[in-house]
Amino acid sequence: MRTRLENLAGIALVDLEGTSPPYLAGPSMDQATCLNHAFLDMEGGQIVAFGTMEELRSGDYPQQVRSIDGTGRWAFPALVDSHTHMVFAKERSEEFEMRMRGASYAEIAAAGGGILNSAAALEARSEEALLDDLLLRLSQARSTGTAVVEIKSGYGLSLETELKMLRVVQKAKSLSRMPLFATFLGAHAVPKRFDGQREAYFDEVLHQMLPAVAHEGLADFVDIFCEDQYFTPEELSRLAAAAQELGLPLKAHVNQFTTSGGLQASIAAQALSVDHLEVLSDQDLLDLQAAWTDRQGPIPVALPGCSLFLNIPYTPGRKIIDAGLPLAIASDFNPGSAPSSNLMLAWSLACHQMKLTPMEGLVGLTLNAAAALNAQKRFGSIAVGKEAHVCLTKPVQSLASLPYRFGENLVEHTFVFGL
Ligand code: NIG
Ligand code: FE
Repeated sequence: MRTRLENLAGIALVDLEGTSPPYLAGPSMDQATCLNHAFLDMEGGQIVAFGTMEELRSGDYPQQVRSIDGTGRWAFPALVDSHTHMVFAKERSEEFEMRMRGASYAEIAAAGGGILNSAAALEARSEEALLDDLLLRLSQARSTGTAVVEIKSGYGLSLETELKMLRVVQKAKSLSRMPLFATFLGAHAVPKRFDGQREAYFDEVLHQMLPAVAHEGLADFVDIFCEDQYFTPEELSRLAAAAQELGLPLKAHVNQFTTSGGLQASIAAQALSVDHLEVLSDQDLLDLQAAWTDRQGPIPVALPGCSLFLNIPYTPGRKIIDAGLPLAIASDFNPGSAPSSNLMLAWSLACHQMKLTPMEGLVGLTLNAAAALNAQKRFGSIAVGKEAHVCLTKPVQSLASLPYRFGENLVEHTFVFGL
């Protein structure tokens, strides 16, 4: 039966012409269309109609519907989390405490904490328990407006355990209604047993893990942590080339702590997205602009929750948009650098810390985030024929109330495929 949201105060990010732009960039991010006093119909998991209440009254729309009163509420495309590490075995709140006593993220990692701490815990936890944890985290994320989630491996760091992580995501794909995407991040850190022999481990990632992951059809994308003390731009290029052969696009962690050529290597490798970018030099920005001159370059993805939690610079989102580029925003949800899946909070941080307008923030969390998954044809805006992933708010004064009321959850319901 058709579900109708009626008497909505407004719908944001509607695609009136049905032209479905693949992303919004530069000034157009702030000019996404809204409809006031509106209705929205969902049926068979899709958005089937929307318009003003006046159009509903004068038009020829079915009367037999399950009606939900939207008085005072807004509807907008449900949020898309294009970057998470949502499969993990335990929190790292003890590291948080160490940091609050003065240790740095790098010092904790060098002492065997950090990613290696998560890897040891993950190895010890069963696939069933990891799956239960994941399903719980997904429903938590959904309660704050998220409908779609990308999930990376990278706490396995061995063939068996990386496969275990990705199988957990695969099982969740069939058990959760939420659309999920899996990313192979074997090149996340050098495991203990390699005793600092990065090149030998990277060889294993490239020649054993990647082919096995692709063979089992366990990943939609590949990723690499390109950073001092982790992996090099040259390794990024080699991974991207091998993944491309297997039909897997690259999403890369670059410029989180330093600028060392990872961004340029990602551009050359035609990466789908470049994530983090907390440290972005003027030359980096020019190179990114050049990558977008006559074709679609990599989507820049900002992770403001990570900046908040590690107390590192925020990705210069304002500069990126002012340079005419698109920007996506994601949570980076993980136990070490961003232990929150709350994209409503990310929206507030995008406005308050990165100086985005509320509408730019919303576009970054929806349409542009869908583009960072190459799934903008499926979801990311309110368009007839798109999957019905829709966020319905509680009564609010305006759309801006959502990022304005930071730390609060004003989401009433997140529809996933219309339910
Ligand atoms: O995106 N930067 C690398 N990976 C994660 C952090 C991983 C961890 O600390 O467990 C990130 O911030
Ligand atoms: Fe990450």
